[in-house]
Amino acid sequence: MKAVIWCRHDGDNVIGIGPNIPWHIKSDFKRFHRVTAQHSIIVGQNTYETFPNRTLPDRKIYVLSFDKAYEVADRKNHRLITNVHYFAQLPDSEEVYISGGAGIYRLFLSDIDLAPDYIIDCCYLGEMNTDLVGERIDVTPCVEFMNNHYTTYEKSLIEDNVLVTLRLKKNTAHHLKTTIDLWRRIADNS
Ligand SMILES: NC(=O)c1ccc[n+]([C@@H]2O[C@H](COP(=O)([O-])OP(=O)(O)OC[C@H]3O[C@@H](n4cnc5c(N)ncnc54)[C@H](OP(=O)(O)O)[C@@H]3O)[C@@H](O)[C@H]2O)c1
Repeated sequence: MKAVIWCRHDGDNVIGIGPNIPWHIKSDFKRFHRVTAQHSIIVGQNTYETFPNRTLPDRKIYVLSFDKAYEVADRKNHRLITNVHYFAQLPDSEEVYISGGAGIYRLFLSDIDLAPDYIIDCCYLGEMNTDLVGERIDVTPCVEFMNNHYTTYEKSLIEDNVLVTLRLKKNTAHHLKTTIDLWRRIADNS
């Protein structure tokens, strides 16, 4: 099972300014960690470099880079991938969360064959930190792709100014149990 997970800013779909995410919502970070822990994530090299010590404990990290000589920080748990088609042959039993940044979201949300079963669409409704210096990075084409190719699960929630909806890829045989279990982990902030 594959899913995108992101937190985008309402209206302009910004996900980053330079290397930074321009808000700090503890419950959103907790949600990301809760959903992805013990599973696998896919990140682009730029996002990987923003992780403290280039790691996140308790999960496997696939790092996408065109640079075949790029060295990951932890050879046991991190794996360099230079060809996105590698992910097509992963077993469906492996839960894989596509976790940014914009280059990687655009890669997976522009081609219907690469597009994952689910999108965990977190939308921050508050003010961004505009003191940050750097390019504003947005995922507007991905949101348009999502609106065309995904339906919205019946439940949603708002927590700390973040609206969370689960999107299901159209014309896909979703297992109800998987969907319910995923939503439970998204919503359970205990
Ligand atoms: N709000 C959120 O949910 C969220 C989540 C994650 C990240 N972010 C933000 O997103 C921003 C970073 O996004 P970004 O677009 O600059 O970088 P990125 O998507 O993290 O990484 C881009 C890199 O991925 C590699 N890549 C891209 N396509 C590839 C392909 N087809 N095959 C192999 N490698 C490929 C390339 O690495 P090489 O250059 O090494 O070849 C490319 O430079 C930051 O601001 C970060 O804070 C936000």
